[in-house]
Amino acid sequence: MYNITQRGLFPTDVYHLDIYDEKENKKYKDFLIDLASKDEGKKRSNRGGYQSDTLLWQEKIFEPLLEKFGGVVNFLLEKLTDADRNKPEAVIRAMWANVNPKGGYNFTHVHPGSWMSGVYYVDVPNNDSPLSFEDPRPARMMDFQRSAIIKDEYYMHQPEMGQLVLFPSWLPHFVNPNTSDQLRISMSFNVELLV
Ligand SMILES: [Fe+2]
Repeated sequence: MYNITQRGLFPTDVYHLDIYDEKENKKYKDFLIDLASKDEGKKRSNRGGYQSDTLLWQEKIFEPLLEKFGGVVNFLLEKLTDADRNKPEAVIRAMWANVNPKGGYNFTHVHPGSWMSGVYYVDVPNNDSPLSFEDPRPARMMDFQRSAIIKDEYYMHQPEMGQLVLFPSWLPHFVNPNTSDQLRISMSFNVELLV
């Protein structure tokens, strides 16, 4: 027997909570399906799916959602800021929509220029479209024998409609192809800190 002290260093925190409002969500869904049908969209991490520009935070319809995002982010920031430090100001100046039909996916990416990122799920096929996070540590590539050492190369989070997921913007993530006939609709945003 050995008395071993274990310390889990450098944890990566991901957060999720339910912010669903049936009436509001329905409005967002209709608006985004319409937008995706008219607008050519942007080509970024999306393949086979629609991605809007990042200016949706300026749209009147998303005001309640933006307010909720801000509320959650400020609550979190309060918790994360040491008592003897000044709480930085959080601003959201990038918010965009993703609409993935069957086959649509997002390859691995990070969100540069931002502190924390969030995704709100307007609609999501059940058990089919997780948000997958990649272990960002180089150790992931060291274990070529695939021994017992590396057990958590990926973490797959299956979101539900109305859920908000928050994660550090530097954490690599991706979405596998949607295999369902149901659209996968989400709103992403970046939080910048003014210090
Ligand atoms: Fe992303």
